[in-house]
Amino acid sequence: MSVRRLAPVQPASFAFSADNLAWVDKQIAKYPEGRQASAVIPMLWKAQEQEGWISEPCIRWIADRLGMPYIRVYEIVTFYTMFHMAPVGRTHVQVCGTTPCMLRGAGDLIDVCKKRMGPHAKQVTQDGQFSWEEVECLGACVNAPLVQIFSDTYEDLTVESFNALLDAFARGETPKPGPQIARVHSAPEGGATTLTEVES
Ligand code: FES
Repeated sequence: MSVRRLAPVQPASFAFSADNLAWVDKQIAKYPEGRQASAVIPMLWKAQEQEGWISEPCIRWIADRLGMPYIRVYEIVTFYTMFHMAPVGRTHVQVCGTTPCMLRGAGDLIDVCKKRMGPHAKQVTQDGQFSWEEVECLGACVNAPLVQIFSDTYEDLTVESFNALLDAFARGETPKPGPQIARVHSAPEGGATTLTEVES
């Protein structure tokens, strides 16, 4: 996984919209006095929904609001790859590159990203539509290889189905997440392989 650090170009300030601020206040109020820091991840997620990425002024704003040292919020943002530390494309593709996915073809998916979006991770295409990066295990290894786009995963991918998926996003569609083959959730391909006999 690539190094995660603050983007070189940052906005001067950050502010939640009025609606989001009301939502944030509600989240903070869920926690008992002295435990407000528990709201940090929901607040970061809402900030990313609003801005598309997490800026340095955003980190400071959230830390100040929760009474946390700036470094604690920075640590969270750098740890979780679901937080983007620089602007990304409207469709940001996170390809799992950990061993199970690599053994099942993640390298081919990365080649597709390089061909369609550019050779370097985190570069946004000229039309602003796409960007990509390699990330560590996304927690759905049984359906490897897979990518995460927004908060959904698209699993059991091949070069063909991945290209079709990207074509759909390029047309403005939102394809159905989950397995892209005839698999039900994480059940075995082709149906059950164990506990198939019913005892009388
Ligand atoms: S290794 Fe890819 S999801 Fe776990």
